Amino acid sequence: MSAARKNSEKQESEAVYRFPHKHLLGIEGLTRKAIELILDLSDSYVEQNRRHDKKSDVLRGRTIINLFFENSTRTRTSFELAGKRLGGDVINMSVSTSSIKKGETLIDTSMTLNAMHPDVLCVRHPHSGAVKLLSEKVNCAVINGGDGTHEHPTQALLDAQTIRRHKGPIEGLTVAICGDILHSRVARSNILLLSTMGARVRIVAPPTLMPTAIDRFGVEVFNNLKDGIADCDIVMMLRLQQERMKGMFVPSIREYFHFFGLTREKLAFAKPDALVMHPGPMNRGVEIDSEIADDIDRSLIREQVEMGVAVRMACLDLLTRDRPGNEP
Ligand code: NCD
Repeated sequence: MSAARKNSEKQESEAVYRFPHKHLLGIEGLTRKAIELILDLSDSYVEQNRRHDKKSDVLRGRTIINLFFENSTRTRTSFELAGKRLGGDVINMSVSTSSIKKGETLIDTSMTLNAMHPDVLCVRHPHSGAVKLLSEKVNCAVINGGDGTHEHPTQALLDAQTIRRHKGPIEGLTVAICGDILHSRVARSNILLLSTMGARVRIVAPPTLMPTAIDRFGVEVFNNLKDGIADCDIVMMLRLQQERMKGMFVPSIREYFHFFGLTREKLAFAKPDALVMHPGPMNRGVEIDSEIADDIDRSLIREQVEMGVAVRMACLDLLTRDRPGNEP
């Protein structure tokens, strides 16, 4: 094939390639190409967010509603900023002051919001599967901002974006995801994304915090932090999600920190240039020592937050691009 023909086919495939889904409900079902499309676009939004004038009009005339049934600092704020920086109108529904408190069901609430013609609903819900159910009842695009212990796709995408910017291609990297895997939607989405991108994924947790069917994910499983992070490129720590636990899953917080808390001494087992991540909120002295969390040479935690805005801008852009508005 001539170089000119190859070039024109490449241009054509780039020109016609669009995000092939109506919603972003999870990483499950996304191809490597779809993930790369989001990450490449996110890179351009990082630049926009570092400018003095951060605003564009990509979402001009579009309406985004944040519907959060669970607490959130980073995710809700970054969806709001993402929508506003792209020039959209963003509404934050506060569940505590909405009719949900009067007994309205999830479906009735979504039908009500749908009738107001939003273009995107960003939804967080404590029950796994609730966001998918809601997406089946509305006309607009739905982004899952975390559903129960199931998925949190934009977190995994922002983590991948952060990793790529520091370590180059994700393929071939060894990433250890450590801590409360059992209750973590972040772990699940990250396992799916990192595996799709060709990373070697290790899961490190005490047996009580390890999901029973973990081997089905094609990951390496460790019950010891030092062994699990040995020679890793990335050490991703997770919060002990006590609000999801019925009873105690660890003997004591002190013992948990002793065995599974990331300290400088334990981090020495990873590669000398290994970097540390945490989705937040952090529990200092439980899963991570402050010295590591605040070490600007090793910790990517603050950068993860920055990437969160850019990745959510890319998701909002792709889910509304060339799509008609919501016409119920
Ligand atoms: C995570 C979540 O809500 O799942 N946080 C986040 O979105 N940044 C993880 C957690 O709550 O520990």
